[in-house]
Amino acid sequence: MTKSDTPSPRPFQHPLPGSALCCGSVSLEALAKRYGTPLYVYSADQILERLSLFQQALQPRDHLVCYAVKANSALAILKLLAERGAGFDIVSGGELERVLAAAPEAAGRVVYSGVGKTAEEIDRALTAEILEFNVESEAELALLAARAARLKRKARFALRVNPDVFAETHPYISTGLREHKFGIDIRQAPRIYKSAAGSRWLQAHGVSVHLGSQIRSANPFGVAIERVNKLVRQLRKDGIVIESIDAGGGLGIDYHAGVFDAAAKVREYAAAIQDALAGFEGRLLIEPGRFLVAQAGALVARVLQVKRSGKKTFVITDAAMNDMIRPALYQAHHEIVPVKPRAGKPRVVDVVGPVCETGDFFARDRKLAPVEPGDLVALLDAGAYGMAQSSNYNSRLRAAEVLVEGAKARLIRRRETMADLLATEIL
Ligand code: LLP
Repeated sequence: MTKSDTPSPRPFQHPLPGSALCCGSVSLEALAKRYGTPLYVYSADQILERLSLFQQALQPRDHLVCYAVKANSALAILKLLAERGAGFDIVSGGELERVLAAAPEAAGRVVYSGVGKTAEEIDRALTAEILEFNVESEAELALLAARAARLKRKARFALRVNPDVFAETHPYISTGLREHKFGIDIRQAPRIYKSAAGSRWLQAHGVSVHLGSQIRSANPFGVAIERVNKLVRQLRKDGIVIESIDAGGGLGIDYHAGVFDAAAKVREYAAAIQDALAGFEGRLLIEPGRFLVAQAGALVARVLQVKRSGKKTFVITDAAMNDMIRPALYQAHHEIVPVKPRAGKPRVVDVVGPVCETGDFFARDRKLAPVEPGDLVALLDAGAYGMAQSSNYNSRLRAAEVLVEGAKARLIRRRETMADLLATEIL
């Protein structure tokens, strides 16, 4: 490894042995004291660093990094990314509204994916003049044409093709095979593009693809983009000129402790895509979510009890599966560390929340440094699909979120109140 390749440190570190875990230079102990727990804490510096890794690696060609809003839709994070030139990948009218609220100037950098867009959602996106609709079926293309005609606005579209590429990941987040609900069989695409060429309100703008999430190898991306590039060449022969190829998201991170060379990963990914794009002169779009925000975030929780039952020890925290569902839903691993280390030997424990489900756990049979009731623990790599997948299950209030920028920390979402909890209901 050369010096310039040295991976930058993870944002959550103990500055000195025995000192409290910090996000950059901000102590998580101080943040928990000020804002309470459970608390999501994010490093703005790391998010921006990750964005610039993609921007640098793709620099040789015209490109746009469209952050997948679903990974973490905090307005402050959207604004941060928009200011550095990012676009956005959205999948609902709600996500569009978030982008418009946080960074209205970025509307023209939005791509709209998703298998079930409603007429109202399409209308809003047409009016906002987004960059491109990633269309997932012929019926949706017909709906898009009808709405565009009604509003008298031309709709730029890409077909999200299904390249039939297998990418090794958890079955719930794998999407690139024909048997999945996503996209249009790539073999059907030429016929559909040709038929759309007859519509006054549709403009064939791109081809898009998305293989799944938490994909650790660059190879499937290369294979998929090669197939897409071949389709683009074929379309050109038919007189249909494609301006952009959207490679989707999905680049995975390492959820285990240890060195993770993000820059090398991005370079490897970018190289696989660039090679596969040989001969394509248009613009490349990518839709990373997790890679930008996951490792920038931690969920800070307080230990409520340490309970011994038979041979097991349960560390019960005030955060639960409603705050972070990844371990319960995908058997996902997240490192858990005490915020202020205590002396003593690690113990094998289950780290669980107070929700009334056996599936409410963050770790099982995990070696954890000693903790006592009242201590803080941090669940690491929680910036993606953490808060975004949170709920009010068990009528629990959703957590607060803090963004750390340099040496400063600010609240970007206040903790929910009991009044919020009841606000939408009718007695
Ligand atoms: N583009 C599309 C069309 C997607 O469906 C997704 C993610 C992305 C981009 C971003 O993928 P990423 O770069 O974040 O892997 N909740 C799961 C992940 C679900 C991913 C869904 N689609 C988890 O916690 O692992």
